[in-house]
Amino acid sequence: MSHNTPAVLRTLAVDLATRTAEKINARRAELGDLRAYVSTKSSVVDPVTVVDTAAEAFISDELERLRPADGLVGEEGNEGASTSGVSWIVDPIDGTVNFLYGLPHYAVSVGAAVDGRPVAGAVVNVATGTIFSAAEGEGATVTVGEKTVPLQASATVDVETTLLATGFSYSAARRAQQVEILGRLMSRVRDVRRMGSAALDLCALAAGHVDLYYEHGIHSWDYAAGVIIAREAGAVVTHPPLSVTGQEFRPVVGYAPGLGGVIDPVLEAAGVHQPLPTLPH
Ligand code: IPD
Repeated sequence: MSHNTPAVLRTLAVDLATRTAEKINARRAELGDLRAYVSTKSSVVDPVTVVDTAAEAFISDELERLRPADGLVGEEGNEGASTSGVSWIVDPIDGTVNFLYGLPHYAVSVGAAVDGRPVAGAVVNVATGTIFSAAEGEGATVTVGEKTVPLQASATVDVETTLLATGFSYSAARRAQQVEILGRLMSRVRDVRRMGSAALDLCALAAGHVDLYYEHGIHSWDYAAGVIIAREAGAVVTHPPLSVTGQEFRPVVGYAPGLGGVIDPVLEAAGVHQPLPTLPH
């Protein structure tokens, strides 16, 4: 059997993300309230960064040991070229602000791409232990404790009953643009959720917990795993090429399959499908 099938890559993604989540939990328990470090500046090194960096180093070392020919793109800067055609795209903690505040909604995201296409991935909610995963052609599942069930995007067909999830950039000027777009949509849809982790937003789309997700300017490590999970759960998902940086502020868009045909004109009119306009200098 080839070592590069989506099924093999998914198994490793789940294993890596799960073990990384255990490490993050252990470290978080040692550190206590992370905000104490940030507000009192009692540490010269931001504890969030320390945990992020250590988690990504762990994944990077494991991949180097197990799959040395594969490439790596990590949020914390780990990089390696691929000679196998497979690349791993990793966010050690997606939802960093939730992590900082102790909101139980942050995740390890491990995606695998073959020749630039996401084909397998795992997203593990660190605080709850919930494991989302998928492989191209094999469906998507969620595991809670001992129980694993298939993921299925919602059956929503109307724009008016669409619950949307989105997120915002860390840049104030970009946020102003994003709020304008969201403002155009608010009177058209059921409501909005801003949960703080793009990877988990895509898993929420896969689980039918929201009907639509879009965001401008997220990076490949935020969405590589979530995209394949949402797609395999039946959602329609578009994203920029994985090589395009979030600094181009292009959109990732995903929605329940029944919204096909009705939601695109609404998203188009609101400006979702275009990159955010260039900021004046
Ligand atoms: C962030 C989260 C958030 C999204 C931001 C991302 P990070 O990633 O995914 O939901 O709105 O755009 O940067 O910084 O927590 O890894």
